[in-house]
Amino acid sequence: MTRKVEKSMDRLFEERWNRHKDEMRWLYMELYDNGDMFAELEEKMRSFAKERNTTLKKLDKQRETDKDWYKSGDMLGMMLYIDNFGGTFKGVQDKISYLEKSGVNYVHLMPFLDVTEGKSDGGYAVKDFRKPQKRFGTIEDLQALTTKCHEKGICVCSDFVMNHTSEDHEWAKRARAGEGEYMSRYFFYDNDYIAGEYEKTVPQVFPTTAPGNFTWLPERKHYVMTSFYPYQWDLNYKNPRVFNEMMYNFLFLANQGIDIVRLDAVPYIWKELGTTCRNLPKVHTIVRLMRMVSEVVCPGVLLLGEVVMAPEKVVPYFGSVEKPECHMLYNVTTMATTWHTVATRDVRLLKRQLDTIDELPKDYVFLNYLRCHDDIGWGLDYGFLSQLGMEEVPHKNYLNDFFLGKAGKSNSCGELYNYDPVTQDARFCGTTASLCGIETALLKKDKTALKKAIDLDVMLHAYMFMQNGIPILYSGDEVAQLNDHSYREDPLKKEDSRYLHRGKMQWEKVEHLQDGDNVESEVYQRLRKLENIRKAHVAFCSDSAAWTVETYDQSTLCMGRYKDGEKILGVFNFSEEERMAWIQEADGLYEDLLTGKFIKPEGLTMQPYGFYWLKKI
Ligand code: GLC
Repeated sequence: MTRKVEKSMDRLFEERWNRHKDEMRWLYMELYDNGDMFAELEEKMRSFAKERNTTLKKLDKQRETDKDWYKSGDMLGMMLYIDNFGGTFKGVQDKISYLEKSGVNYVHLMPFLDVTEGKSDGGYAVKDFRKPQKRFGTIEDLQALTTKCHEKGICVCSDFVMNHTSEDHEWAKRARAGEGEYMSRYFFYDNDYIAGEYEKTVPQVFPTTAPGNFTWLPERKHYVMTSFYPYQWDLNYKNPRVFNEMMYNFLFLANQGIDIVRLDAVPYIWKELGTTCRNLPKVHTIVRLMRMVSEVVCPGVLLLGEVVMAPEKVVPYFGSVEKPECHMLYNVTTMATTWHTVATRDVRLLKRQLDTIDELPKDYVFLNYLRCHDDIGWGLDYGFLSQLGMEEVPHKNYLNDFFLGKAGKSNSCGELYNYDPVTQDARFCGTTASLCGIETALLKKDKTALKKAIDLDVMLHAYMFMQNGIPILYSGDEVAQLNDHSYREDPLKKEDSRYLHRGKMQWEKVEHLQDGDNVESEVYQRLRKLENIRKAHVAFCSDSAAWTVETYDQSTLCMGRYKDGEKILGVFNFSEEERMAWIQEADGLYEDLLTGKFIKPEGLTMQPYGFYWLKKI
């Protein structure tokens, strides 16, 4: 870096720091009342800013000027496990051309930091926040991968598992050995009284696979808080050392060229006795502080909150327009509501959910998805559903039976996840293709069922691409990959049915994509077509006006989008029967973007699981 560039970068840091320092100090002191630790944070932020390479700094500047850079309609994400997709960082790098060919410009590398084999929760029990797992390569390989991605215009997302560390993290080892300094970074209790008090109000994350929220450590004669698996020890953010060190780990990650940092399990990071230990006000203070830390050191980096919570708990993680927290959140309620709609063929709740999202400020960007690496839980609006005659427990049972293929004329073949006998709650797992019925139809060699299943799969993607925000595919879904039942034979995975939908990428399917006559090429080609149409139309941008339209049919959903004089309507049939949609709003002529034909869509005949994307002429 020349001295001139260096000077102007320093000046930029000062400007950003001056913009945020008062609010940061105020919030920090409110949490910790510790000026020395705040001074240390400032000093470290300066050194991370200095160490940040020039290319990333330029990107920061560019993105700071074009604040809406991630809101254009051409973002398409894909999440993948490195071992399943390319084996190593280098292997993923070799597959970048496939990502490009698939229109992907945002790749989420699932957790890659060091873990203990067999006790990793899919990488979410981190042993060292600065070192990747050996089998994936070195930190330099990661830097090479992010650099290559940037050259190709692809952003890189990575997890930041901030709620807990692995029990084999250095801090945890020293805490287990009885060092008070390190014990104070976790929640340790020498008797079961406080643990018992917490258990009265704190729900369980893994009621079957890891019941309870505490683990007894016989060698230390203490309980330690473990909200997730017993080997994932909850960090105590009441200790400023924990906050500071985790901020340094976050900045280290950002400096490797990560553009989007996924705040794993963020609602859990603050604990108070007598509460559910979820979404407490101080969680928001911490996320706000983190947002400012990033705006000062690496303003090109986005925060993505993983908030898998009831609808009213999700949106506050955006913060306010003046005091923003996360840049992006998962649209988890819409995702769950989508599968409810598939099972009930009733769009009323989905329409209501989309209306709620449409009314939010356009600054809020959601990541839309049909499924991810985790299970799907039924976080639905039961108040509304009960007005429609669907009561929570029997309805959840119906949904689970549907996706097990046992009810409602379903061909789905999912599996249950963490059935809780007390609340009778369960979540479920499965790839999109298998949940849509492709696997069962192939097994039964039933051509009619297969056509419907493929149509459902494609229709769901078309509907997802019309939502506000950025669509994210789980790698393999684009070629209709089926469930991977082999996890049951793996002793390290068999207890965790989420591995059902975390199978290895089947590259042989990709090789057949040109052959035409097979499920994978049909799904892939149809999705590619949709993605290309989406990228070519401004109305799909995240900040366009969006609304739902009455169809006078319970199984068909109509969504509208408008920007810069372009109006698009999407109509989707969630039923396996032919339906009729009455769209009064659709006056005049529209172009069917899939076929290029012109139609007047007031009365639309909808094929089973059919859909339209229509542009007003
Ligand atoms: C997140 C991850 C999930 C993991 C949990 C604990 O919810 O998505 O896979 O089990 O955090 O870290």
